[in-house]
Parts: sequence; C-alpha cells; structure tokens
Amino acid sequence: MVALTHQGTQLTALNRLTIQTSSIGENTTVIRCLDWDRDRFDIEFGLRNGTTYNSFLIEGEKTALIDTSHRKFQDLYLDCLNNLIDVSTLDYLVVSHTEPDHSGLVKDVLKLAPNVTVVGSKVAIQFLENMVHQPFNSLIVKSGSSLDLGNGHELQFISAPNLHWPDTIFTYDQNTSILYTCDVFGMHYCDDYIYDEEPDLLQADFKYYYDCLMGPNARSVLAGLKRIDKLDINLIATGHGPLLKHYIDQWLNDYSQWSKEQAKTDNLVVIFYDENYGYAEENARQIAQGLQKTEVNIDLIDLATTDPHETRQLVYEAKGIVLGMPAQSDDHAQIIVNTILAVAHPKQAIGLFESGGGEDEPIYPLRNKLQEIGLTEGFPPILTKTAPTPNSQKMAEEAGTDLGQWITRNRSIKKLKNIDSGLERALGRISSGLYLITANKGEIAGSMLASWVIQASLEPLGVAIAVSKDRAIESLLHPGDRFVLNVLEEGNAQGLMKHFLKRFAPGADRFAGVKTYPAQNGSQILANALAYLECEVVSRTDCGDHWMIYSTVQRGRVSKVDGLTAVHHRKVGTHY
Ligand code: FEO
Repeated sequence: MVALTHQGTQLTALNRLTIQTSSIGENTTVIRCLDWDRDRFDIEFGLRNGTTYNSFLIEGEKTALIDTSHRKFQDLYLDCLNNLIDVSTLDYLVVSHTEPDHSGLVKDVLKLAPNVTVVGSKVAIQFLENMVHQPFNSLIVKSGSSLDLGNGHELQFISAPNLHWPDTIFTYDQNTSILYTCDVFGMHYCDDYIYDEEPDLLQADFKYYYDCLMGPNARSVLAGLKRIDKLDINLIATGHGPLLKHYIDQWLNDYSQWSKEQAKTDNLVVIFYDENYGYAEENARQIAQGLQKTEVNIDLIDLATTDPHETRQLVYEAKGIVLGMPAQSDDHAQIIVNTILAVAHPKQAIGLFESGGGEDEPIYPLRNKLQEIGLTEGFPPILTKTAPTPNSQKMAEEAGTDLGQWITRNRSIKKLKNIDSGLERALGRISSGLYLITANKGEIAGSMLASWVIQASLEPLGVAIAVSKDRAIESLLHPGDRFVLNVLEEGNAQGLMKHFLKRFAPGADRFAGVKTYPAQNGSQILANALAYLECEVVSRTDCGDHWMIYSTVQRGRVSKVDGLTAVHHRKVGTHY
C-alpha cells in the first residue's frame, strides 16, 4: 500500500487530504482519495467521519480506469495515477455516474489521454458532453453490454438508474468477481482501512448514507439488487468509504430489508418530476428529505420514463402525491399528468412545485383541478424562479415534512390510544423546564420550543436535548453544528411560547417580530430569555421517534440573577 499526503501550501489542519493505493485483485488497483475533514455533502447531509472518493484501475491487455475523483484531489490524484501507468496510453475511462465527486477529474484525464474512450450510460455521456465541452470518444453501455480488456478481464455492465442518479451503471469484472458500484453500498467514512474490517463501526454511517441517498429510491434499489442477484461477488468496490469484502451478504441484506420496508405502499408518497428539466430534481429531493422525517414511504418517479400504467398503479396506492411541473411542450409528461388527474381521489394529499425550466405547465390551474377533485393541499405551491438557495431548499424540505405530518396524523393518534392510562399518567410526572433552541447555519435559521432538556455532563460541560425526528430544526443539529439554548423565565414565557408554537408556513421567518441579538456562535439569543447557553453538537443517538442530541456548552449568561426557569408540568407522558 502506498500513502501520500498533500504538501500544498493551501492545506490547513482542517482540510486533510491524503491518497492511498492498494492492489485489490489480479491486475486491479484501488486509488482511495481520503477527505478526512469534509463535514457536509449537500445541504442536508452532515458528515461526522469525512469521506473517501474511490477510483479503480484495471490493467488487462487494455487498461481501464473506473471513475476519477473530486476536483480537490487534482494534484494528488493525477500524480498518483501517473505513478501507476502512463496515462496517455489509457484505453477506457468508465464513468459509473457523473456527479462531480467522481467525475471532477474527467477533463484532466481527457487532456492526458486524448484517445481514451469514455464508457457510460447514454444519460452519463450526455451529461459529460455538457460538462467537459470538448469532443471525446465514447461508448454507450447498458445492461447486457460487455467490454473485453484481455487477460480474462471481461467487464459486464448493469444499468442501475436512480441509484441515486439516472445515469448510474454498475461494472462487474468476471476475472476478479469485483462489482464496481460507485455510490451504491457506499458510506461517508474515512480511515486507513481499505476493507470493511469492523462492521459495527460502520453500520451507523452505512445506514445514514442509505437513508439520505438510496431510501427515497427504494424501488429502484430493489430492482438494482435483482439485477446483481446472480453474480458471484468477491468484493463490492464502492465509490465512498471502505470496500465491502468481509460482510457482503450482510450489507446486501441490509439494503434489501430497508428497501422492502421503504417500498411498502403504506403511507406512500409518490413524487413525480422530470429529472432533466429545470431544478425539478433539486426540489424533489429536498421535499423527499423533509418527507423522510415523518417516516412515510417515498417513491421518486421520473416523468420522462414512467408510463400511464405504472402511474395509475402508484397514484391509486398513494396517500400523497407531489408533482413537479413539467414543460408545457412535453407531450409524454402531459399524458402522465392527465393520468394522475384521472386516478387521484379525495383522501389524498397533494403538493405542487414549479421546476423553473422556463416553460413550466402553469401551477395554479392544475391546483384548482386537484382541489375540485377534493385532494387536501399538503403544502402551498412552491414557486421556483431561480437556482436553489439554502433558504429555498430548506423551504422545500419543510414543505415535505408538512405533507408527511398530514399523512401520518392518524398514526400518532392511534399510538396515543394504545398507551395504558396508568403508565401515561405516571410518565407525565416527569417535569422539566422550558427552553427555546435557536440555530443558524449560513442563511438558514431554525427554532424549536423544547422541554426535554437536561444537563448531561460536568466535564466537559454538556447538555442533552431530545428533538422529534420530524422537526425542521433537526437538520441543523448534526455533529459540529452550533445553537443557542435559551432558558425561558417563569412568568415571562407566555409571549415567546405563543409565538414559537404557531404553525409556520414552509420557509417562514420564525424570528419576525421577536427581539434577538446574535450569539458568538452565530445563532440567535432571545432578548427576553432568562439565560442562554451557546452549544455545539457532539453526537446524536437514535431514540425511536426522537434524536437525543448531546452537545457541549461553550459559554452562557443569565439576564436576571434571581429569575426562575419556567417549569413544564404535564398530565400525561405521551405528548409534550
Ligand atoms: Fe458520490 Fe452521487 O456522488
């Protein structure tokens, strides 16, 4: 194994980038780019263990590189590749999927190897043409296609659309029995171990990654699993995290179980959108993210590839429908929209969003038709005039959560009815204080009235807070995030409670009309709070329908030394 460390002057202690290579099979080398300190993937995906971007080199009679790396590894990666082979003689570059964390250096490879043939799905090649703006040799592959590199390395390709992008392919090498899956079965986990030596250490990150990227496409995951079912797999070479070697059955079984659970039609919400039109995909994914907090089942359906039969079936089964406006000129999408209108019924919830592609189907006439049928609006129409911003993404996420809460409202009532009343009353005797949590991250601000708060450690000073999984603020409380815990005062809490207990529309400014000033950590201190504590999240523990969030406390002050904390007494322990 070779390990190199970035020597560049721009590198800081909080931006460690290293690279590692190792033989993983006959004529096969992994190049692992280790991004130790990356703390976020997209706005919603907080990372606690960094990540890796894995690329693979197969040297048969012909050479093939499977995926490249993130642009931030430009020097390290290209030096490493040049040490392994004469890049100018590279024959094939397989692009499993075109997201920039894997294709960020495709342009550099094309420069070094102008005669290389880029291999990918039809969609991937189209995406790449738009990304690199230069001609290149290409080979479009799909399920059933193969490519012989010689020396026994015959590559078979398997289409895996929507895992998690429409362009994804898997590559299977018959010689080594290695299956290359890029994002699928990956995890954001960075350490020196190349393989899955300690599954217990990896499980939480493996699940979190599945929930964020694969869960919303559970039906596609099941279809992908079926396509690899018959393969004899020695190693799953993923694009992120350790390669899966020692517990392959366990990892595959996890995906299968989670996806079966997710794909059940109970509380199904179907999101229809055109993946290649405007900002439809960004909006759809944010709404799915918000829906996920309410534990509904989600199916993301591309308007371009679904047919009326599948649409009819899904709409019939769904409790909620979300529709991203397609282009008015898209005849196929119009047929699908008409099918939705024909099958939709009054017991369902609907949410509509604009895709911002420049010629969207008008949203309000469609909204009127759906309301005439009797559907309940899960969130107000989302209008899209510009590229997504952190605030608009947050709004879409909150819209998804609102829709999911409407769909699951009966489940919560049923749960309450099932509780033994003696237990209910006894649990209600646990009392607590009243607090207001405020969290700012970039442009995004969140707040939550909290009562399940307790000091949890003396050294370091730390507090634990229980946050319901369907709270909007939950996504601002990942490890490393900062917030202010405002302590409400007895006799002076009603005004603040009334304000913050209001139901806010998605994206609404929760602090409008409330006097605040900024804390050193960037969140808001309420001027009328009795005390405040500035906190930083250390860890989250899954407690069923809540996250238990443990945070250290950096600083705090009391505004009235003889003021008392507002107390929250409850009659029953089954709600707040
Ligand atoms: Fe790891 Fe979808 O890129």
